[in-house]
Amino acid sequence: MTRTKEETLAVRGRLLGRNLCVAYRNPVKIVRGEMQYLYDDEGRRYLDAYNNVAHVGHCHPRVVAAGIEQMRTLNTNTRYLHDLILRYAEQLTTTLPEALSVCYFVNSGSEANELALRLARAHTKARDLIVLEHAYHGNTTTLIDISPYKHDGPGGSGAPSWVHKVSWKDAQQVVEAIARVRAEGRDLCGFIAESMPSVAGQIVLPKDYLKQTYETVRAAGGVCIADEVQTGYGRIGTHFWAFEHYNVVPDIVALGKPIGNGHPIGAVITTPEIADSFNNGMEFFSTFGGNTVSCAIGLAVLQVVQEEQLQQHALAVGNHLLEGLKELQRHHEIIREVRGSGLFVGVELIKDGKPATIEADTIVNQMRDEGILLGTDGPDHNVLKIRPPMPFSHADADLLLAVLVRAIQ
Ligand SMILES: Cc1ncc(COP(=O)(O)O)c(C=O)c1O
Repeated sequence: MTRTKEETLAVRGRLLGRNLCVAYRNPVKIVRGEMQYLYDDEGRRYLDAYNNVAHVGHCHPRVVAAGIEQMRTLNTNTRYLHDLILRYAEQLTTTLPEALSVCYFVNSGSEANELALRLARAHTKARDLIVLEHAYHGNTTTLIDISPYKHDGPGGSGAPSWVHKVSWKDAQQVVEAIARVRAEGRDLCGFIAESMPSVAGQIVLPKDYLKQTYETVRAAGGVCIADEVQTGYGRIGTHFWAFEHYNVVPDIVALGKPIGNGHPIGAVITTPEIADSFNNGMEFFSTFGGNTVSCAIGLAVLQVVQEEQLQQHALAVGNHLLEGLKELQRHHEIIREVRGSGLFVGVELIKDGKPATIEADTIVNQMRDEGILLGTDGPDHNVLKIRPPMPFSHADADLLLAVLVRAIQ
């Protein structure tokens, strides 16, 4: 049965949880994807400038073929020996600093962060965690506890006593948070942050922030977790991982979204020492995590990123886009700041000195009507969020800029 868009919307509202949001005032019913383009039920093409999950492009033929081929052959769990998971782990760890050499595979970014927390707790025997303001790390009970974006927002009930929120604008706050933990007679478990906070509004941290913070946290006995769920795999152009931008090496890295190109894969990579602490007698097992099909897909995605040189492409196209946006900023007061790196870009809008939340929403909806999919984020939802599939081209950037000028006007 094919439903009209209106019918789909109505049935969805009845059958699915009501707090599943629908993007855009005039929702899009997408039926097909191809690289950086999505097609709706009427055959209209949209330029996708938003979906970072389809990292190497929607339905990339090589990734699809790898999944189909493996599905035909075997799909089972990690309790049997198989070389595919090892090839994947080998190739993944070669992209990381040497110290990060032990992998765990799960099914989502949330599971990756959950596991990262378990590793950190097992290693430090402590629970208190320092998190960044406005951060989001996933949808489970514990991750809502460490995600100010959620627990400080509608329906939230604030941070529990073991979660300490700091602003990235002031590294001293980490020192103060540790002093508070100590004053309460407890030890520090660690610090978790997106290496470039995305949900908080596409932020590039001050150059020394992570270096200073990692040093402070480690000196207090804590471990440093990098949530690279949105920022990894070459998106920022200059580096494969966003933490590399700051010249730091985390103790634990959590991965998700892009690594499966839409197939649900998450991963955690850590040091042998932390992995040893976690190996405390309790088995770690995920029914689907690291299954043969996921590994085939994960490996294909990584190979495509590397062989198609998508990091270098993101840098070139990202620079072109950032330049174009900065040129727009010179002529439009509403643009307060253009920021980002590679194809991780944010455009912060203000009006009369205040966050231009309504204007941002209007612009995103008008762009949607003109065939370009974007989103907003940041605490005031006034940051246009541009993080397209990586094949996004110079011509796509030019089109986005041209349509954005019209929308702003
Ligand atoms: C930074 C970050 N970490 C973790 C997650 C959770 O990932 P998932 O939705 O795959 O569970 C998200 C999802 O938006 C995210 O943006």
